[in-house]
Amino acid sequence: MIVLKHAKTYEEMSKIAYSFVKEVVTTSPNATLGLATGSTPIGLYKEMIKDYQAGVVSYKNMLSINLDEYVGLPVEHPESYRSFMNNNLFNHIDIDKANTNVPNGLAEDIEKACKDYSAFIASHPIDIQILGIGGNGHIAFNEPGTPFDAITHLVELKEKTRQDNARFFDGDINKVPTHAVTMGLKDIMSAKQIILLASGAGKAEAVRDMVYGKMSPECPASILQSHPNVIVIVDEAAGYYLKA
Ligand code: PGA
Repeated sequence: MIVLKHAKTYEEMSKIAYSFVKEVVTTSPNATLGLATGSTPIGLYKEMIKDYQAGVVSYKNMLSINLDEYVGLPVEHPESYRSFMNNNLFNHIDIDKANTNVPNGLAEDIEKACKDYSAFIASHPIDIQILGIGGNGHIAFNEPGTPFDAITHLVELKEKTRQDNARFFDGDINKVPTHAVTMGLKDIMSAKQIILLASGAGKAEAVRDMVYGKMSPECPASILQSHPNVIVIVDEAAGYYLKA
């Protein structure tokens, strides 16, 4: 079931998201956090860092599992999702980096690495999963057409996704990797609670289809309709088509 929360601004969206994360991290010191990259969760991560720095919360005994990673980008590349997580969160809180997990986009045997990642998720159930949504309705890199029962797998990115992400690669789509490794929808659905954030007009139609559309692989995010505990937090522009 999807519960909607309407925020006016990106900042308010981030603060509401943090209230859910805070609830988990203050009540479960050993929590497993499912984390996401992209511009959307940066405000949430800033809230997490602020409260950590104020001494309110500690991530010392927590585990994190990230959704996805580009294939073929060196880990130290500034746009690898490992770099993103280090720069935007892990370097600023007390989580042990050894307990932070990001899929390996450089594995020699990608298929085995994917299977192992799903098995790891199954043995470390995610307490709270943060998600963004693509303009095409993808969650993580589960592009339209991805079967609902997919586990972690290799994907070829859609042109629209590579265009959307070109802004991080000097605006040049040719520099955006063509493939990625992503948690599958089945892995994502196994999280106990899911917090999906959406900001900006570019997400409005995808958000509408996720919430009101037919549940179908054409809109991967629509699978969330069948999860028991999903909170969707939108700012005004992303929530344009939603009833109050
Ligand atoms: P964004 O990406 O947060 O950078 O908009 C979200 C997504 O594509 O899942």
